[in-house]
Amino acid sequence: MSQKTKRIIQMYDQYVMPTYRKNPVVFVRAKGSYIWDAQGRKYLDCFPGWGVSGFGHCHPEVVKAVRGQAGRLLHISNNYYNEVQGELAKEISKNSFDGKCFFSNSGAEANEGAIKLARKYGHDKGKFKIIAAMSSFHGRTLAMITATGQPKYQQGFDPLVPGFIHIPFNDVEALRKAFDGEVCAVLLEVVQGEGGVHVATPEFLKEARHLCTQKDALLILDEVQTGMGRTGKIFAYQHYDLLPDIMTLAKTLGGGVAVGAMIAQRKFGDVLQPATHATTFGGNPLACRAALASFHVIRKEGLARRSQKMEKFLRKELETLKKEFSFVTEIRGMGLMMALQLSIDGVEFVKQCLAQGLLINCTQGNVIRFMPSMTVTEKELHQAVEILRKVFRKAVKN
Ligand SMILES: Cc1ncc(COP(=O)(O)O)c(C=O)c1O
Repeated sequence: MSQKTKRIIQMYDQYVMPTYRKNPVVFVRAKGSYIWDAQGRKYLDCFPGWGVSGFGHCHPEVVKAVRGQAGRLLHISNNYYNEVQGELAKEISKNSFDGKCFFSNSGAEANEGAIKLARKYGHDKGKFKIIAAMSSFHGRTLAMITATGQPKYQQGFDPLVPGFIHIPFNDVEALRKAFDGEVCAVLLEVVQGEGGVHVATPEFLKEARHLCTQKDALLILDEVQTGMGRTGKIFAYQHYDLLPDIMTLAKTLGGGVAVGAMIAQRKFGDVLQPATHATTFGGNPLACRAALASFHVIRKEGLARRSQKMEKFLRKELETLKKEFSFVTEIRGMGLMMALQLSIDGVEFVKQCLAQGLLINCTQGNVIRFMPSMTVTEKELHQAVEILRKVFRKAVKN
């Protein structure tokens, strides 16, 4: 470890709260699928910033847009109009459904806004309950750890926010049973990412849609991780024959710049009136300019279609691992959101991949996750699988 790296890590130890499990690597620059540490070592990134750099690190179009905007206007208050926010709202709507947007700075905050909108809508009708799924993940604010159907995120933070009910993901019967007259919303991911890469069944999502319509509740789809092309469509719900009432976005939306958003169908677009919801930084010109550039890149480079094509290639590669190693029990996912279910612990493999120059992720202790940039090449994917193979082989030998 170099002196520079040591010094940076020591500074963190002294001044930054230890809320993240850290690897002893300091990254200093990145481009496309690659990232370099302070010692000049190059890594292949198949989990770029937890899905934020969804079309590669420092895409030149986003960099150009941010540079241009930074020199003109960085921030103004939401009590005035800026040139870009309306344009971005229109772009999100054009790519999804007719509606109105609210801008935030993160995925958790986008979900918070969606829940507030649903609560406000249901308030005078006595509806306040939110149905969410077990093994879900919706963020780390107090309401979102409550919505998240995993007790490990809630421990030590009670009392939690009242009114959330959890049902098993993809359990149609449980959904029907939980849906009483006090439910104002159903909050779901289309593909549960952090929960282990589980894809929603069409029956489950359709029943959620049907019940929400029938019982005057709102279907909120959290597309924070699945959105912007990764699953093979711009938004994952577009694989299913239905529309949500609210969709939330973040991660790839800003192509590396912090921005979150929710869009609500036009009939719910005016539920949140002045003074009911706000955030100082939300929808600032810099973030919106980056997000507009993201949409442009994704469209121009046909990245949703590319994700479908790359999924096929990656699946084939992953199949070879499943054939070779009996502890690989399943390949799951959609588009470039893919996972290997292991019957043994996976955390150590991820650490060894890092040592071999590959960034991937392990969730739930034994699910190896790939979320490479949508611009990833076959050669890069092959290289990633070969590194993982090497690491697996070494484990088998020991
Ligand atoms: C589906 C989903 N929703 C919400 C969030 C929270 O987003 P953020 O970390 O930007 O608050 C995440 C983050 O991983 C996520 O995957």
